[in-house]
Amino acid sequence: MRIFETKKELQDYLETARINKQKIALIPTMGALHEGHISLLNYAKPLSDVTVCSIFVNPTQFNDPKDLEKYPRLIEHDIALLEAAKCDALFLPTVEEMYPDPNEKWHIDLNGLDAIWEGKMRPGHFQGVTQVVYKLFALVQPDIACFGQKDFQQVMVIEHMIKVKQLPITIALCPIIRDENGLALSSRNMRLSSNGKIQALALFKTLLYIKNNFGKIPLLQLNKQATELLNSSEGITLEYLAICETTTLKEIKTIEQDKQYVALVTARVEDVRLIDNMILN
Ligand code: PAJ
Repeated sequence: MRIFETKKELQDYLETARINKQKIALIPTMGALHEGHISLLNYAKPLSDVTVCSIFVNPTQFNDPKDLEKYPRLIEHDIALLEAAKCDALFLPTVEEMYPDPNEKWHIDLNGLDAIWEGKMRPGHFQGVTQVVYKLFALVQPDIACFGQKDFQQVMVIEHMIKVKQLPITIALCPIIRDENGLALSSRNMRLSSNGKIQALALFKTLLYIKNNFGKIPLLQLNKQATELLNSSEGITLEYLAICETTTLKEIKTIEQDKQYVALVTARVEDVRLIDNMILN
């Protein structure tokens, strides 16, 4: 695997690929890689000729400086995983390389998608995400970019940006990878004790309950039961639970035949913020 720390080196490498009409896939990450991240790479492999993974803990998407500080940085472990998974290129820039102007301004109208759920809980988060992803898109100019369903709202935000900026990039929405018990893999899980990991399963169980009863129980009642299930689970501090339409992420009151729905949940376990979701139909 080739490792590049500067934009210039990466661009030179990709220029050859482009001259040879090779398809480029980008997998943006913040590192502390696990099987969830590697699944995005595996998804991209048969669809592309060159896979580029980026590892960059993007400061502009953290609204809590403590969260940024605590974010795990495990670069040697990450390189070993990417080598084993046969990633072609790793982009590993510094903050200065990505933000040469520390006062750079960025704003994109996300049509309200950044004012709800994760956007509401973490003000400025999706502006920071789009800021860095736009930079990565401009730099790599990928044919395809892979994102995990794990961060469902993030994918909707990126899709919106692609539409607004008219970028010629295909977004792949890759399934959530879970451990053998159903806990969605996350870099944050390493901060959970073994008991915390068991307590955290309440998120998956609640999502399954919603999926299994979606369309069978009136929505209000289903939401109430699921909320009670989580609130009565030991160690869980619920932030939000909602059943939404997939594109607007607006909470729904009735089910329509031709629409797709998703249940979103976020809760804290041992003060670790966990996020999960499930498509319902
Ligand atoms: P990060 O949290 O490192 O996630 C990188 C990608 O891996 C995201 O698309 C995320 O949805 C996906 N992912 C994480 N856990 C997963 C799982 N269990 N199953 C499947 N996919 C999973 O998301 C970010 O970084 C950043 O916001 C980023 C897009 C890189 C911009 O900074």
